[in-house]
Amino acid sequence: MGVVLKTRKEIEVLREANRVVVEVLEDIKAFARPGVSTMELDGRARRILEKRKAESAFLGYRGYPAVLCASINEEVVHGIPSEERVLKDGDVLSVDFGAVRGGYVGDAAMTFAIGEVGEEKKKLIEVTRECLERAVLKMVPGNHLSDIAEAVQGHAEANGFSVVYQFVGHGIGRKMHEEPQVPNCGRPRPNNKLVEGMVLAIEPMINAGVPDVKVLEDGWTAVTADGRPSAHFERSVAVTDHGPDVLSDW
Ligand code: MF3
Ligand code: CO
Repeated sequence: MGVVLKTRKEIEVLREANRVVVEVLEDIKAFARPGVSTMELDGRARRILEKRKAESAFLGYRGYPAVLCASINEEVVHGIPSEERVLKDGDVLSVDFGAVRGGYVGDAAMTFAIGEVGEEKKKLIEVTRECLERAVLKMVPGNHLSDIAEAVQGHAEANGFSVVYQFVGHGIGRKMHEEPQVPNCGRPRPNNKLVEGMVLAIEPMINAGVPDVKVLEDGWTAVTADGRPSAHFERSVAVTDHGPDVLSDW
């Protein structure tokens, strides 16, 4: 199918879809606290989808059973919400959420502390956010996917962290996962050139310890191989002739 470039109009629709996503993420960030279950977070997201007349991009995707992913501590991505998973002081929580509006998909993620977290988790959240910001700055015509990977990997490793290589970002539009894949490290192949109209969901996943992850028996939850914490930030960005256009602004 190849890379699908977007018109200015399509980019505005993507911005609308991402507005719903950011509303949900910010609501959850404000609501999440010790004693709250990850299922409650899913419920809040469902109510906002209803209110905004938007659809979930995740529910039913390859059989995924919820509208958001809530990944705690050593969970990297794709944690399934559960009544039994209750947040506690000192947790680091990554929330990933996707919404469809006007036929286009918004997809974003953020990681934040629950109550008081230790220095390592604090730094991990900070550095992962910075990795995403550095990658966003590379979204200009003429750059390559490798510039994104180098920006993420360079900053993560300079801070003593490691980059998850088993999951990648992606093009996004009418479908949640479009070409190209957007690796956060290594040498991407094919090393696509960034051109005006490309919209990419950039999503660094950074680990405090080893880069390797494994998927649990539920078929979804990805955890770090060494059990140390992980963080994840994601936003959609369009390449334009006047620089990176962040569609999921928070
Ligand atoms: N942000 C994730 C992604 O880009 C969301 C997928 S979760 C799923 O792949 F449940 F929808 F699979
Ligand atoms: Co994504």
